[in-house]
Order: sequence, then structure tokens, then C-alpha cells
Amino acid sequence: MSWDDLIRPDLEPLVPYAPGLRASQVRERSGKEIVLKLSSNEHPCGPVPIAMAAMREVLPRLNRYPDGACTALRGKLAKRFGVPVETVAVGNGSNELLRLLAQVVLRPGDEVVFPWPSFIVYPMVTAVFGAKAVRVPLAEGDCVDLDAMLAAITPQTRLVFLCNPNNPTGTIYGKEAFERFLAAVPAHVLTVVDEAYFEFVTDETYPDGLKYFDGERPIVVARTFSKIYSLAGLRVGYAICPPQVIQAMDKVREPFNVNSVAQIAAYYSLDDEAEVRRRRKENQEQKTYLYSCFDRLGITYANSETNFVYIHTSRPVEVFQALLEEGVIVRDFGNAPALRVGIGTPEDTQMTIAALEVVVARLGKI
Ligand SMILES: Cc1ncc(COP(=O)(O)O)c(C=O)c1O
Repeated sequence: MSWDDLIRPDLEPLVPYAPGLRASQVRERSGKEIVLKLSSNEHPCGPVPIAMAAMREVLPRLNRYPDGACTALRGKLAKRFGVPVETVAVGNGSNELLRLLAQVVLRPGDEVVFPWPSFIVYPMVTAVFGAKAVRVPLAEGDCVDLDAMLAAITPQTRLVFLCNPNNPTGTIYGKEAFERFLAAVPAHVLTVVDEAYFEFVTDETYPDGLKYFDGERPIVVARTFSKIYSLAGLRVGYAICPPQVIQAMDKVREPFNVNSVAQIAAYYSLDDEAEVRRRRKENQEQKTYLYSCFDRLGITYANSETNFVYIHTSRPVEVFQALLEEGVIVRDFGNAPALRVGIGTPEDTQMTIAALEVVVARLGKI
């Protein structure tokens, strides 16, 4: 028996998702007591108190399987967004939903159009179902170029991923560009709008993808509880989809894909809108403060509507290492001339700024 015969050869070029360094690893290596992990766009605070209390209550009942239909959470999301419950899917992170969406539409040889750089999962799910990735470079200002995305669509295109705001750049496209895109996108294409950072956005030109959802046109809007709601460790996200798409996803998803703790935590997290507003405001304040530090240090960056900032650097490897030595973990992209810096608490911002000052003093212009 040969493993090469056994394992699908088309998986060979794929590489496993590489998570960033963990704080404990950096603590060991740098000897720093306090290490800041700003590499995964997580929220610095824990889950909201009402969700914490609900999670504790469910623990004694974990001998039971979860509700495989996520009835309560789907009902609550449907009510919140004014959509029929048949259009709400919940997944083990929105990541699972992106994969399921790809799984139910892609045939080998289909084309999947997405911006690049963008979320790493788009090329991963494209490849795993034997489809062809069509990467559309970002336009000036590190923004998703919707006109170029339209131009990249062919009769073979089955799926388009839009990431708004875009990860890793944090930039958005506006209503006008999106409406132009929707008016022109051919009917044979499923458009998935990934709005993982939706709750952080403050720019009024931002198009809320759900406003364009009518359950009939082939549009899906995906969001998550991992970011502003601080439930990354539980894995829970949702997508509003035409019912036919959900019916297909139900046929291939795992029977109990969202665990009971995740379901209840997400359900109650939706009740604390005041905390979401507070988090959005604090994030905005810290971002503005970070921008002023970047300006002072001569660091250029993309305009972010998220809880991270994409900074430009001609020396990404050196800067990444130097920040690690200061106990700050950011996200690197190999040799690509940029790093992604997460936004945390006011104390985290102070530490980030202090670290950048040391790095610039040591390396000169970065
Ligand atoms: C753009 C984007 N979409 C989706 C996700 C996945 O989120 P989840 O934790 O819900 O799987 C992320 C996570 O970083 C993301 O950045």
C-alpha cells in the first residue's frame, strides 16, 4: 500500500492553516512576563456577563447532544434581522458555513472569484472541492476592487466571496460600488458576503449586506460571534441564505455541528447590545490613537473599519521578530510587505505603541 495512492493527489499543493504563535510560546522564548497576542483579530475582553452565566447553567446538561437545528438561536437571529427562520444557518464558526457553501455549489473545474489578499479560507475551500481560485488584486488603498471582480467573472464562475470589511486590510467598499456590482453580477453566480467584522464598522457608506438579501437572489451574508462577541473559542457563526441553499447545506453538515455551550452563549450575547456599542466605540478610540502613533513614527497603513490595522513595511520579517522580542505578537504574511496589528484594550494600545517606538528606534524607518 502506498500513501500516495491512498491520499488524494490534488491535496498535495495545499498547506494546512497556520495559526499564529500562542502567547505561551512567546512568553517562553522572549522571557517577557506580559505578552500581547494581536495576531488573530480576537476581542480582548471575555464573553459578556449574561452569556457567561448562561454557559455555566448548561454545563450539567452536557451529557445530552445539542439541538441539531439550533432552534432558539436561529429564531432569535431571524427576529433580530427580520428574515424568515428558514433563511438562517448556524455553523461551527462562520468558517464551517463558508466551507459548506462551497461544498453545495462547487463542481470540479468551477471558478471561485475572491479578492486577494483576503481571508485565507477562500482559497482553501476552493481547492478542497476541486475548483479553481481566481484571485483579484486589491485596488489602491488596499480596497476590494468590485469592478475588477466583476470583470473576472466568466461562465465558469460559480461562487464569489466578498469580504467586507476585508481581512487582512480592514478596508471596506461602499454602497455605490456594491450596488453597481449587484446590478451586474450574472445570475449563475452565488455571491457570499463575509461580514465577520460587521459590528466594528462606523463608516456610514458601508453597505449592510442584509439590506440586499431577499431570499431569492443568490446572495448569502455570513457573520460570526467570534469577534465583537468574544466567543472565538466556542466556534459559532451564522449565515443568512436563500432557503434552497440551507436545505442543501443541511444534507451535508454534521448532525450536531454547533455545540450546546456555543448555542446558548450566542443566544444570550445578542441581548447585550449596549456592550457591543461600548466595544465598537472603544475599538474606534484605540484605533484613532494607534493611527496617531503610526503617523508620528512614519508608518503607513490602510484605513480600517475593523479591530485590526494593516500596516505597510518594507521589512516585515525583521519588524515581526523585533515586535516579538518586545512581547507583541502581530500577524505576518511571509515576505509580503505588511503586518496586521490587532486592536486591544487601552493598556494593550499603550504596550503596542511602546513596542513600536523601541522597534523604530532600533531599526530606523520600517
Ligand atoms: C473574514 C473572516 N471571515 C470568517 C472568519 C471566521 O470566523 P469564525 O471564527 O466564525 O469561523 C474570520 C476569522 O478570522 C474572518 O477574518
